Amino acid sequence: MGILTEQKTRASVNACVVGLQWGDEGKGKIVDVLCPRFDYVVRYGGGANAGHTVIIEGEKFALHLLPSGVLSPHCVSVIGNGVVVDPAVLLTEMKGLADRGRAVEPGRLRISRSAHVVMPWHKQQDALSEAAAGAAQKIGTTVRGIGPCYADKAARTWAIRVGDLLDAKGLSEKIARACDAKNRIFAALYASAAPKALDATAIAAEYADYGRQLASYIDDTTWLLNRALAADKRILFEGAQGSLLDVDLGTYPFVTSSNSTSCGIPAGAGVPARAVRHTVGIVKAYTTRVGTGPFPSEQDNEIGNTIRERGHEYGTTTGRPRRCGWFDAVAARYSIAVNGVDELAIMLLDVLSGLKSVGVCTAYELDGKELPFFPADAGMLNRVQPKFEMLPGWSEEINRCERYGDLPAAARAYLARLEELLGVPIGIVSVGPDRRQTLAK
Ligand code: GDP
Ligand code: IMO
Ligand code: MG
Repeated sequence: MGILTEQKTRASVNACVVGLQWGDEGKGKIVDVLCPRFDYVVRYGGGANAGHTVIIEGEKFALHLLPSGVLSPHCVSVIGNGVVVDPAVLLTEMKGLADRGRAVEPGRLRISRSAHVVMPWHKQQDALSEAAAGAAQKIGTTVRGIGPCYADKAARTWAIRVGDLLDAKGLSEKIARACDAKNRIFAALYASAAPKALDATAIAAEYADYGRQLASYIDDTTWLLNRALAADKRILFEGAQGSLLDVDLGTYPFVTSSNSTSCGIPAGAGVPARAVRHTVGIVKAYTTRVGTGPFPSEQDNEIGNTIRERGHEYGTTTGRPRRCGWFDAVAARYSIAVNGVDELAIMLLDVLSGLKSVGVCTAYELDGKELPFFPADAGMLNRVQPKFEMLPGWSEEINRCERYGDLPAAARAYLARLEELLGVPIGIVSVGPDRRQTLAK
């Protein structure tokens, strides 16, 4: 029995939703579906590289920085200290919601003063460094300045935090120092691209204005969340990206720059690890990846094209076509282990309708030997040979199914095989993008 069906016990503890693949698993949809059970929804990492889609009665919302809880009026949404905040994107997103009659008042959105700010030089560096990289080194980032912002956070010298936006004088001094350094670094490193010089005065005025607009939302969110825990409020942590993009545990270097697994929660929200009592692992019924990097079960062929078209597999943030392939049970087992997954949500099962047979990667071979583990290292992963098991497909469209038992026998057999291979119960099956198209198992 999963989080959707349990009334009191499990559902009344704090939980997290994490993607187990390379992102875009459908986290936004599941967070939205689970919202009625929670008081707070917290983003703990990543930034505007994320694109979380929520569809409510046919109306589509694409959220980048705002937690998906903003669409549930009773929830308080929190942008934790581990997030990198691009204030321009955030304010545009807030305005977009207000224009659609869903204004987010300060009482429903709290932003950590310790979260780092994505500055214009971060986006510029992301673009310059990707353009300068050779085909083999290009990460295929979202060019949202994520990596350079996290790098400056760790380096400290030029970092700017959300709280700094509230002190116009201190902010303009920090920005002047950073611009001076960044202009010299970019000119030296990327001379052939003739980078545009950063204008410290204009940037300082722009960001001080963002500070004024966001002032009533900025808070000590660690204190807020720990008070909520003490008051037995229910908190849902919303993962961004996917576990295989985690900077420590993913397919390095083709990863993002934060801990996108559940391991990122304590540091990115300031709560003890033991606060998270239930982990919902989200996977697509197949696999996708955007950007470069190894992808053993990729189907760069008619199958992959069919999945892309049926699943509308184009990026929510960048519009790039997503690479598509079969479900990879070796990679999913690894993600389940590092996140400590209690329950699985299998998403986009409807996309597989109409395929004669459906593949699952059950093992990797390297140099003729079966690997006992998932090598989270791009070099090694590039050389593995995937072993596929083919299962019978089903021809029926399933997006109108209302109960698990309504699914065709072959679809249920496919899910049973995944459960067997992964060793974790499936609690949720998603058969369409809308809130209503969600089956409890
Ligand atoms: P996230 O980043 O994990 O929140 O996922 P994205 O929103 O980037 O990508 C998931 C896409 O699949 C979105 O377009 C969703 O609307 C859509 N989606 C989610 N669940 C389902 C499902 O069960 N079936 C179909 N066909 N689409 C789904
Ligand atoms: P959500 O939350 C899919 C990928 C990028 C690139 C790599 C590094 O919607 O699942 P970055 O801009 O973070 O430096 O890019 O990570 N990536 C994502 N892929 N979904 C995401 O977020 C992603 N966020 C980053 O495509 O390969
Ligand atoms: Mg996404």
